[in-house]
Amino acid sequence: MTTNNYAAVNWNAVSDAIDKATWEKLTEQFWLDTRIPVSNDLDDWRTLDDTHQWLVGHVFGGLTLLDTLQSQDGLAALRKDVRTPHETAVLNNIQFMESVHAKSYSTIFSTLNTDTEITEIFQWSDSEEFLQNKARWINDIYHNETDPLKKKIANVFLETCLFYSGFYTPLYYLGNNKLANVAEIIKLILRDESVHGTYIGYKFQLGFNQLGQNEQQALQDWLFDFLYKLYDNEEKYTHLLYDQVGWTDEVLTFIRYNANKALMNLGQNALFPDTEADVNPIVMNGISTSTANHDFFSQVGNGYRLGEVEAMHDSDYSIGAPKEPKVK
Ligand SMILES: [Fe+2]
Ligand SMILES: [Fe+2]
Repeated sequence: MTTNNYAAVNWNAVSDAIDKATWEKLTEQFWLDTRIPVSNDLDDWRTLDDTHQWLVGHVFGGLTLLDTLQSQDGLAALRKDVRTPHETAVLNNIQFMESVHAKSYSTIFSTLNTDTEITEIFQWSDSEEFLQNKARWINDIYHNETDPLKKKIANVFLETCLFYSGFYTPLYYLGNNKLANVAEIIKLILRDESVHGTYIGYKFQLGFNQLGQNEQQALQDWLFDFLYKLYDNEEKYTHLLYDQVGWTDEVLTFIRYNANKALMNLGQNALFPDTEADVNPIVMNGISTSTANHDFFSQVGNGYRLGEVEAMHDSDYSIGAPKEPKVK
């Protein structure tokens, strides 16, 4: 027997039940941006002044960059350190959905923005200092960090914390009954990110719990140093985006609340005093995972369902012939 045999992935011998449960959850909640009727938001969009339209366009520019990073580098980096072949399959699913997320902002742009505005948004996201800082720091860990656990920390901080400075804007509008279809896309993305952060945090904890006390302490020191560095940068990014509309303080509260959630995913204690009760209730209302079916043609939204599947019968091929009762 050679040691170079290539192993087929066997889903009838799953060693970690979380892999299978996560695969099922993610495939059940599969969605595509093209199913959401964003053009229904055009009337709302026209009621926003230039400053608020600028904000919406640029938070989505920032989110596009982060989802691009996840789809191109983030999951590929994690895939090198898997514990099971089923984890590879789950990460493949996540990677594809990150591409859907990144693309969905372009669906929003093409509906709400002019070509000139779209070009400017991408020039901004490809060069803005504080946005580029977070993308570069995390990408550097994905490519140059040899400790698999540090890569997972970077991934969870991105998934569960850094996206939220951008998510705040569409959730705020959703809470105010504006841009409901745009917000529906964001809620679908959020629902995915929630599973991604939990799953990758769980895989982190498996490795973390195997470490000795000194190694755990050293990793925790690194983790909190990195979070402070990211938060310091995130404060500057938030001022840049939100000072002009006066929302900066409440966005920062929301970021700290989500930073605590990222730490929770990693099995660590909260760092900030902010809790759910401190977050603007309009935004918390938007974030709640209730289902929405906003358009009876598209059957999309958080209530999106896959078609019911049944086995094929011989009579299915009798197209145009008189219907015969199916034998069950
Ligand atoms: Fe994403
Ligand atoms: Fe994600």
